[in-house]
Amino acid sequence: MAEVVRTEREGEIAVVTIDAPPVNAINQAVRAGLQQAFAALRADPTVKAVVLVCAGKTFVAGADIKEFDTGIGAPGYHEVYRLIEDSPVPVIAAVHGTALGGGTELALACHYRVADKGARFGLPELSLGIIPGAGGTQRLPRLMPLEAALDMMISGKPTVAAKAAEQGLVDRVIDSELRSGAIAYARELLAQGKGPRRTREQAVQGADKAAELLAAKRAQVAKTMRNRVSPPALLDAVEAAVKLPFDDGLKVEQAKSDELPLTTESKALRHLFFAERDVSRIPGLGKEVKPRNVAAVGIVGAGTMGGGISMCFANAGIPVTIVDAAQANLDRGLATIRKNYQRSVTRGSMSEAQLEQRMALISGSLDYAALSTADLIIEAVFENMALKKEIFAKLDKVAKPGAILGTNTSTLDIDEIAAVTGRASDVLGLHFFSPANVMQLLEIVQCAKTSPDVLVTALDVAKKIKKTGVVAKVCYGFIGNRMMDPYGREAERCVLEGATPAEVDGALEKWGMAMGILAVYDMAGIDIGHLTREARKELLPKDPSFYRPTALLTEKGWLGQKTGRGYYTYPEGKRTPDAESIAMFAAEAKRLAIPQRKPDATEIVERCLYGMINEGALLLEEGIALRASDIDVVYTAGYGFPRYRGGPMFYADSVGLAKIVARIEEFAKTLDPQYWQPAPLLKKLAAAGSSFAEYQKQQTK
Ligand SMILES: NC(=O)c1ccc[n+]([C@@H]2O[C@H](COP(=O)([O-])OP(=O)(O)OC[C@H]3O[C@@H](n4cnc5c(N)ncnc54)[C@H](O)[C@@H]3O)[C@@H](O)[C@H]2O)c1
Repeated sequence: MAEVVRTEREGEIAVVTIDAPPVNAINQAVRAGLQQAFAALRADPTVKAVVLVCAGKTFVAGADIKEFDTGIGAPGYHEVYRLIEDSPVPVIAAVHGTALGGGTELALACHYRVADKGARFGLPELSLGIIPGAGGTQRLPRLMPLEAALDMMISGKPTVAAKAAEQGLVDRVIDSELRSGAIAYARELLAQGKGPRRTREQAVQGADKAAELLAAKRAQVAKTMRNRVSPPALLDAVEAAVKLPFDDGLKVEQAKSDELPLTTESKALRHLFFAERDVSRIPGLGKEVKPRNVAAVGIVGAGTMGGGISMCFANAGIPVTIVDAAQANLDRGLATIRKNYQRSVTRGSMSEAQLEQRMALISGSLDYAALSTADLIIEAVFENMALKKEIFAKLDKVAKPGAILGTNTSTLDIDEIAAVTGRASDVLGLHFFSPANVMQLLEIVQCAKTSPDVLVTALDVAKKIKKTGVVAKVCYGFIGNRMMDPYGREAERCVLEGATPAEVDGALEKWGMAMGILAVYDMAGIDIGHLTREARKELLPKDPSFYRPTALLTEKGWLGQKTGRGYYTYPEGKRTPDAESIAMFAAEAKRLAIPQRKPDATEIVERCLYGMINEGALLLEEGIALRASDIDVVYTAGYGFPRYRGGPMFYADSVGLAKIVARIEEFAKTLDPQYWQPAPLLKKLAAAGSSFAEYQKQQTK
């Protein structure tokens, strides 16, 4: 095995290089290598300073996440970092790329830090439900003002070198070649007679105002990171840095770092880390299947979705041609795109020149012939089967051979759409979410005849436009919207049973959903769901209460925010309970003789989520979703499901499948039994004391 840590000499300076591709993640081997190197240097009196650098494209970009499960092999972080900090000669970290987690903590344990101008420093541990555990919570506030240190750890966002230098984390930003710049810096230090400057010996910056600041941050995380355990634990550790001597503070950090990986929160977040990586692994699709080249894209329909999708491609530097049927709609669509970009310019996240560059990549036309050079065409016209078929027949005529034809339909049978073309193998669903230029999720819908390379191309395109592409098969609503169906059904039914919209949404939000479903309906437009159901009326359950509140609101023309009222009213834009709509629901409940059970928050959450989970189990059985973890990615990336709960299927496992089945069986007795039949897979796994995770492991064996 190649050495992961090597030491070279540049005269009186020793250069220690970590070389552990691809990202120099710290694992047992790297720690052991560092230990050996620094122990040897200590014994060498000719060494006057040490420069610590990394080979390859980045400084240490984190710790090896697998060690969470296997345990940290000796030597541990503290032992090695302490050895480095104890060095009798100055140690200078030279950072390029992105120092993350244990990498940033390694740099903090060095005596000085120089950074390439493109370097970034981050401590993203909270995103995995843990806290910096290699001294980060104790050392960072000794190097930069307490508030900045807290912000860096709470946000998890990397800080760029220039900013880090301003804050005191970096001693010098180096414009030239990093290694030689760092050596020159070391020589300067020696010339100035500077020795080791141990972080642990410095005082916490701003300790006098710490009590106030920590209280404010506690209030902030209680609100913005509710239900979570790692953010308050982080604040406890930082409080220890303020109040206790370094070594005692380190013990507090250590105790919390030992406990946190065992929490459901951390397991959930780590589950998603791997789930997101796995989405592009499609069973049976090997590396030999190559993606087609997508250098030019066509979009049909310049509406809400067509415009947003166009922006995704322009943002990735791929030229887009939008075709619409009406000049006015085309003009309006292009104007909306410009307005959206303009907003970014106003916010300062984009320059005027970038706006013009993006707009120059987008052109409009009324003529389908303009799509003849596109490698990928995505249809985003009204949700109407006849219209979509007409368009696909046209596309079949104008698209070049090998062009991929995608549809953004939310619900329609894409096999039926594909069948009107003479190239069904080139057709698939590309289901973006609104606003398409913002939302992370892309459902890639594989049709019966979609060819493997078309699927691979879609996954590749998703990466290029920075989306998380999850593969689903054809069915009504695919993964996401199909599981929303029971979720919304129960939310609406709870309203008819006497819970107010604010109570239903409040229960879901308190549990962790980004937004209650009824508020979502108000935002998206109440009529959207209603019209979709109308279009497939004959397939719906024979239940007069099924989605009845939404139907009533639509009949009234109370379509949500766009009309100023729906489930709520919006005086001065503020969501407010609407006594009139609540009275209307009560009257309707009476007319339908619905018992007023007034479900409490626990029941609301259980009904909405267990209905959703049961549907998820059906999707797995039917093969619509490939893996339980794919469903979790769909929900966390596209539906505001709290990441710290891991997604619906992970959440089901964490509750216990037997408990969920038992509740579903109870609901079958107390509620409408047609909705509460446990999916066979759910029942089977529950009976065996198994889990969706276990099922997934068996599947992939
Ligand atoms: N809006 C959402 O939240 C959302 C989310 C996901 C998917 N979708 C799906 O995306 C599709 C588009 O939805 P939208 O909200 O953007 O609709 P929209 O009404 O905003 O836009 C539709 C556009 O299609 C154009 N159009 C109609 N017939 C055409 C034709 N024959 N040729 C070219 N253009 C034509 C219209 O002029 C209009 O500009 C639908 O299938 C919808 O189900 C919508």
